[in-house]
Amino acid sequence: MKTIVSTREMLINAQKNKYAVPAFNIHNLETLQVVADTAKEMHSPVIIAVTPSTIDYARDEYVVAMASSAAKNTDTPIAIHLDHFENILKIKQAIDVGFKSCMIDASKEAFEENIAKVQEVAAYAHRYDATVEAELGKLVGIEDDLVVDEKDSMYTNPDDAVTFAQRTGIDSLAVAIGTAHGLYKGKPKLDFTRLQEIRSKVSIPLVLHGASDVPDELVQQAISLGICKVNIATDLKIPFSNAIKEYFIQNPSANDPRKYLTPAKEAMKKIVQHKIRVCGSADRY
Ligand code: 13P
Repeated sequence: MKTIVSTREMLINAQKNKYAVPAFNIHNLETLQVVADTAKEMHSPVIIAVTPSTIDYARDEYVVAMASSAAKNTDTPIAIHLDHFENILKIKQAIDVGFKSCMIDASKEAFEENIAKVQEVAAYAHRYDATVEAELGKLVGIEDDLVVDEKDSMYTNPDDAVTFAQRTGIDSLAVAIGTAHGLYKGKPKLDFTRLQEIRSKVSIPLVLHGASDVPDELVQQAISLGICKVNIATDLKIPFSNAIKEYFIQNPSANDPRKYLTPAKEAMKKIVQHKIRVCGSADRY
């Protein structure tokens, strides 16, 4: 491999072998290192995901450079993926600097507008051999600057999913089956019947957003029913920031980033290891 790849081959392999590739949201060098190093150690394919505000913060060329360096040092496939991008121009710019995978999130648009936007992105991305994910339905919760209230959330309609996948030519479909971005108020209830129906009608890889705070057995059930990519953000941010807070409680006069970021990386690593096991993606390459 030795280079950044698209998500095409890794997701098809996951679909064929009934596991999921974890997509971890990163924010900076440290979080990217944890994800890439752990995936390498566990021989797991991995998707490094960045939201629009992460690109504003870390800058696209830096993310590409860091991920390229990680990819050069491992035989397991590493993809960098634009997560929940709504701005088509920004997607094109990121593809131009080396991203090979993107999500165009036009899920808040009406069906036809969603299709039109996704078609435009797919036409551009596929020219560069980059893969495209899109969402049909709407997840409740907060992800980056996107906020969806409960009353505006919407599950994926299986028949619409067939038309959507056919007309857009997307490589993977994010489905809304009851997961939410961020933490849950009670135990999440996933609509597995709906997932099964979508899986039986749509042949491309299916993506589960909002997998933080979902019991492992539910994530695994979703994978057994056809989910091939599992998105995780909140479950990594919490231990990372908690470890920093704890470090400063113990060391109030500390000021060396290498000192207070090391326990944060260690705490995050344990979760990345655990999620790779839950996804069944270890030792696949
Ligand atoms: P969580 O923060 O709930 O894990 O959601 C992550 C996600 O879906 C990113 O696209």
